[in-house]
Amino acid sequence: MLTSGLDRDGRGILLFGKDLPRAETFDESDQRGTYKQANPAAIQKALDQALKLPAFGWYVLDASRRIGDKPKGYIVDSRELVAWRCDGALAVARNACPHMGAPLSAGRVCDGEVVCPWHGLRLGKTSGREKSMLRSYDDGILSWVCLQEGDEKTEHDPVLTPRPDLPIDGVIRMIARCEPSDVIANRLDPWHGSWFHYHTFARLKVLGETGDAIRVRVAFRVFKRLCVEVDCSFHCPDPRTIVMTIVDGEGVGSVVETHATPIVPGFTAIIEATLADSERIGFKVAKRLTPLIRPFIERNARRLWVEDAAYAERKYALRQEGQKAFVEDGDWYAIVGTPRRGNR
Ligand code: FES
Ligand SMILES: [Fe+2]
Repeated sequence: MLTSGLDRDGRGILLFGKDLPRAETFDESDQRGTYKQANPAAIQKALDQALKLPAFGWYVLDASRRIGDKPKGYIVDSRELVAWRCDGALAVARNACPHMGAPLSAGRVCDGEVVCPWHGLRLGKTSGREKSMLRSYDDGILSWVCLQEGDEKTEHDPVLTPRPDLPIDGVIRMIARCEPSDVIANRLDPWHGSWFHYHTFARLKVLGETGDAIRVRVAFRVFKRLCVEVDCSFHCPDPRTIVMTIVDGEGVGSVVETHATPIVPGFTAIIEATLADSERIGFKVAKRLTPLIRPFIERNARRLWVEDAAYAERKYALRQEGQKAFVEDGDWYAIVGTPRRGNR
């Protein structure tokens, strides 16, 4: 069913999709900002609660499909790691060869073991050097590594949240000049949605906050004025993850998982998995076209995160005395000096 409505700026939009439950409606003539609702103290309180949750030492590395038969180097929480696949299974180790410290990510994989580029030492699950291996977990979409040390060690798996059974998925990985908490804080402020990402969200209303979740009604632009409106909820399952789940309307059960993995102090990898689901008949056909659809999902996610990274970097920069972060001629410059497009 197609209905008409007004967007954030009072411009006409067309809405399609399933009916949503009655809720406080938008005052469609209201063009005031959301700054009165976006309470910095409340956002900080929600962040503080999330930061207290256990992660059991687990960090997201990357999309599962981006780790293959070649060793790939990562830095997580100031530790150099190398990841590869052994008979299809994820393997992660320190990226320093136990012999003389060569970067194993510069080596190659042979029979499931990584071979050091300096003197040919082999490292793998069967090489008798298990001590150099780290616990890892592949959830089918994302690869995780556990960095617990000494007495901290537990046998917990990473904290996973419900996902659709057979989603169309896309995963992006970006690096931002901030701390993981700045990434989570960005998503704990849904009030910025239609102001900062007007190209994607025609209008957005926070319906309520219940302890550990925020419920939002948002109209996604499908094409220009054509939008689909859904209800979604945001919650943090661990201190470095925030998950958006569609709870009413089109695509119920679809999720967007945003993970913030510290690289070194002041640098964070944002790894975001979009897992789309739908009851529509055409979805099964679309699922088969995942490789064609995935680039569009990832392009949209990246577009939002270019802006949200600027938000997170700005928050980080404001905490740093004497650092360079400035807005000049409409472009946001982060400390790394990369121009980022702001809200246009
Ligand atoms: S440094 Fe790796 S084998 Fe010598
Ligand atoms: Fe955002």
